[in-house]
This record gives sequence, structure tokens and C-alpha cells, in this order.
Amino acid sequence: MYKEYLDFIIDIAKEVGDLQLSYFRGSNLGIETKSNISDVVTRADKESEALIAKAIGERYPDHKILGEEGGFRGNPDSDYLWVVDPLDGTTNYSQGLPIFSISIALQYKNETIAGVVYAPYLDEIFIASKGGGAYMKSRTSDLKKIHVSQKQQLAASVIATGFPYDKDVNPDNNTANVTALAPNVRDIRRLGSAAYDLCCVACALLDGYWELSLNLWDVCAGNLIVEEAGGVIHHFRQNRGISIIAGNASIVEELKKYVK
Ligand code: IPD
Ligand code: CA
Ligand code: CA
Repeated sequence: MYKEYLDFIIDIAKEVGDLQLSYFRGSNLGIETKSNISDVVTRADKESEALIAKAIGERYPDHKILGEEGGFRGNPDSDYLWVVDPLDGTTNYSQGLPIFSISIALQYKNETIAGVVYAPYLDEIFIASKGGGAYMKSRTSDLKKIHVSQKQQLAASVIATGFPYDKDVNPDNNTANVTALAPNVRDIRRLGSAAYDLCCVACALLDGYWELSLNLWDVCAGNLIVEEAGGVIHHFRQNRGISIIAGNASIVEELKKYVK
């Protein structure tokens, strides 16, 4: 379903991935800080978004775009909204760590109908459309349908999370949740790319994920990929941006006991 959009997104994601790999671990990263010393942006973030916005603008001039670096662009009255995180995992990227991704989703009348997350260094791509299932292609497999983990036991589960950029000044920074949950799970991971975390939940590399204070561009594609892989996205608070718990229905219920 929505094949035209998916094919278009996959092509751009691949092109943007090549751009990101061309700077990766090099000396021309152009690292700057945004809101504070923890919040970094690189030349690759900006150039990636410019490339994506240009491609969407040329192909779908009547649509609207929301990108992390450039905000809203395009036709403000459109029912179609492209939601773009050009480089999710910039801290990893700026350090030369390999977990980073490109997240591109398309909403129609506020419902996400297509989403792609591509991790160029890992060479893994995750693809979903509304009602069409979720798929993954990687070094070890051709395009295949993916499903969330079937584990029922939290104690046997590996769960990922992340920390908000205002963690230094706001005590509501997720550390209490980590403290509460750590004794009750197999282990906790902080991979560094919310979009990729969600894809790992979708294909059962992780049994669950939660994070607070996210933005729409971090999760728009990943949430659809999890749901189309049979998982649940639970929105758990209203006062801290987008805050979600992801996993199969049982693990999400278990996580709700510890994550506040
Ligand atoms: C960040 C990553 C990180 C998450 C942060 C996000 P960025 O996105 O997804 O894993 O913990 O909340 O802001 O800044 O690298 O695009
Ligand atoms: Ca992000
Ligand atoms: Ca980003």
C-alpha cells in the first residue's frame, strides 16, 4: 500500500545515507551546539534536511513538510504532512558511533500512512504503511515482514530508553524510571536514536522501549513501524513533549508499572 510514497521515501533515504556516510568519522563534521552543550547539530543534519525538503518540494509541491532543522515549509493548508528527522542520533554520529538513522514519515489528515527509517552505517532499512505491515531489509536478510517480540516476562526483557536534552537542569529527566526498572528487567540499553530504538522493537531486537520528551520527527515513522509489526505505542504523559512506551501489549502493561 502507498507504494508510490514508499518508493519515493526509500530513494531519498538512500541518497541522504550516502551523504551522511561521506562525512562520517571525518574531520569536516561542522559540529555546533543548539539548546545546550548536550544538544549538537552537524553539517550532515542540515544538508540532509535540505536535500529531503528539496526532493519533497519538487515531487509534491502542494504538500507540507515538518523537519527538525527547518520547521514547517510548503503549503500550510495541505492535508499531507511530511515529518522528517534528517539525522536521528546526532550525538552518536558526531562521536563516530554507528547507530544513527534517517526518519521520514507521511501523514494524511494527521494519520501516519507511510514511514521509513534507514540506518546507513548499519545498512538496515525499516518500512511500513498503514494497514500494509512492517518490513526490514538488512545485511543478513532480504526484505522480510517483521513482528514485535512475543516475550511475556519483563524479567527476561531487554528494554531501551533515552534521556531528554534538558536533563542537566530538569530533575524530571528519566533517571528515576531507570532506577525503578533496572532491577526488574534483563538489561537496559541507551542506543541513541529513538527512531532506530522503535525499529528494534518492531523486529524484536529489543523487547520494549520508553522515552519522554520526544518530538514528532523522532517517532512518527517508528511508531507506525511498531504498530504495523503488531506492537503497541502507549502515550503516557501530557506534560513532557511526546512520551511513549513501546512493545508488545503485555510488556507495555508491565512497563507501565515502573515508568512514570
Ligand atoms: C535524539 C535521539 C535520542 C533521543 C533524543 C532525541 P537527535 O534525536 O533520538 O536517542 O534520546 O531524545 O532528541 O537529536 O539525535 O535527532
Ligand atoms: Ca531525533
Ligand atoms: Ca535529528
